[in-house]
Amino acid sequence: MTYGAKTGKVTIRTHRFLAAAYDRLNAGTERRILAPWRKRLVGDLHGEIVEVGAGTGATFACYPSGASVLALEPDPAMLAQAQRKLGEGIAHITLRLGGDDELDRLPASSADAVVFFLVLCSIDDPARALRRARRVLRPNGSLLIIEHVRSAGLLGTVQDALTPLWSRLTCGCHLNRRTVDTLAEAGFDAETLSAVHLPIPFPVRDLVAGALRAREEPLRSIARRFA
Ligand SMILES: C[S@@+](CC[C@H](N)C(=O)[O-])C[C@H]1O[C@@H](n2cnc3c(N)ncnc32)[C@H](O)[C@@H]1O
Repeated sequence: MTYGAKTGKVTIRTHRFLAAAYDRLNAGTERRILAPWRKRLVGDLHGEIVEVGAGTGATFACYPSGASVLALEPDPAMLAQAQRKLGEGIAHITLRLGGDDELDRLPASSADAVVFFLVLCSIDDPARALRRARRVLRPNGSLLIIEHVRSAGLLGTVQDALTPLWSRLTCGCHLNRRTVDTLAEAGFDAETLSAVHLPIPFPVRDLVAGALRAREEPLRSIARRFA
């Protein structure tokens, strides 16, 4: 399925079965590791928040009442699951069918935070998605991430080999993305970025979680000094 906005196209593989089973498949990891990280990262947010790739809406219940959230999800099957969780949260949440290209429709510097949780592994072009997020973030806004990344050593080699098949079976998920490098190349500096290890040996073991801020562009920082 190709979901298209005016500004570019995003290829989405709809997975009805995966969407229906997603929460059950992840229940253990969600309870022990992911849910506490979600709460820690978004629990104190306020203002305008954009969540990219909201999936089944696992983060919705974690947003506080002061947050106004635009949640984007391009897979209609995932979106249907997320719709059921809209009532669980206390924040004002608007759920919209759309991929990271929807960020191009939002005004520049309009978001206090952009949230990517377990989604940079699935987005076709994560560097472009991060550039899109950067444009939308206010100067002091936060990019919040929880992402699994390519592991070092033999496991990384296995992840490289397994990714083509894995990606077909899941919603385009890549086991072997070097997301920390991609974030740095997209101009984000870590404010708090933690390495998180899942208590399973395979196929995903290493995650990164935390908050990043966009590095000020050199020209803008010079202009500010002389203003
Ligand atoms: C592994 S799920 C994670 C869902 C959710 N963020 C969570 O934390 O549970 C990855 C999600 O990314 C979505 N996705 C894939 N490509 C995307 C894109 N280009 N823009 C936004 N979301 C995308 C998928 O539809 C899927 O719902």
